[in-house]
Amino acid sequence: MRIGIIGSGTMGSGIAQVAATSGCKVKLYDTNQSALDKAKTALDKILSRLIEKDRIDADEKSRIQNNISYVSNLNDLSDSDLTIEAIVENLDIKKKVFSELETYVSEDCIIASNTSSLSIASIASALKNPERCIGIHFFNPAPLMQLVEVIPAIQTSKNILDKTVNTISDWKKVVAVAKDTPGFIVNRVARPFYGEALRIYEEGIADLPAGQAGFITIDESLKTLGGFRMGPFELMDFIGNDVNYTVTETVFKAFYFDPRYKPSFTQKRFAEAGYLGRKSGKGYYNYDKNGGIIIP
Ligand code: NAI
Repeated sequence: MRIGIIGSGTMGSGIAQVAATSGCKVKLYDTNQSALDKAKTALDKILSRLIEKDRIDADEKSRIQNNISYVSNLNDLSDSDLTIEAIVENLDIKKKVFSELETYVSEDCIIASNTSSLSIASIASALKNPERCIGIHFFNPAPLMQLVEVIPAIQTSKNILDKTVNTISDWKKVVAVAKDTPGFIVNRVARPFYGEALRIYEEGIADLPAGQAGFITIDESLKTLGGFRMGPFELMDFIGNDVNYTVTETVFKAFYFDPRYKPSFTQKRFAEAGYLGRKSGKGYYNYDKNGGIIIP
């Protein structure tokens, strides 16, 4: 199967790895050459680490790498059977890319979005054949996270839904089919998790022991007592404060400004300041060049 991935950032590069590992021929496209270079280097490192851990051998590494080509023209994806878009979470930009993409690919090509929060129906409306559009929502990091939400829009045909579920299951993922509602399943449940943590931080409730920043206390409480692998602030830094803020804002608006999903000014300022988290080296925590956490 030939897969076209649009956007070679955090998610696009991870999805490319998943598809290539399953034996698909993948073309990874980005408008930014340095994002493509970064994706290629990152994959090389990830696969080398898997060799060190005895999870794959050198032949498997070459096989996966040879299954991915890095391209900088959208029409390079013209022979795809399935395209998955993972670019910036902005409806107008996604719609523009989708309507251009449709002019290059065959009528049978499935056109999917990895959006976290935008309506699949509105993205699909950019297409002349919207019944081939569907949401395929991977979680970060895509190669490690088992769950994938598959979201048919009201325009999506049953045939496209079935084909998509089969493909993602073939990639050894667990599929949850979700209705096209804001945040789908996981991101809707996650909004109050981040939102309430940010409110506790802003209210200065969790600032003990003395001298420790409140967010560390919140993270440590949830990890030590709550059994979470990452606290909410570590997780927001991991996802990207820009991406996470945008998702919250979209879900809030989409639920007609329900206060349960109200975004936080703290997070907005972090996104505006470029304190994006792990990917920019600074968020709530600081990060060294290997991604290790430095407690501020
Ligand atoms: P990112 O910022 O890491 O990567 C986005 C990439 O898209 C960049 O490399 C950028 O150069 C490229 N790009 C931007 N506009 C483009 C265009 N018009 N054409 C081609 N490439 C373009 O973003 P990330 O985190 O990978 O998110 C991508 C999508 O996946 C968003 O819709 C986001 O909501 C969704 N998502 C993100 C998750 C996360 O944890 N970061 C989890 C699940 C979904």
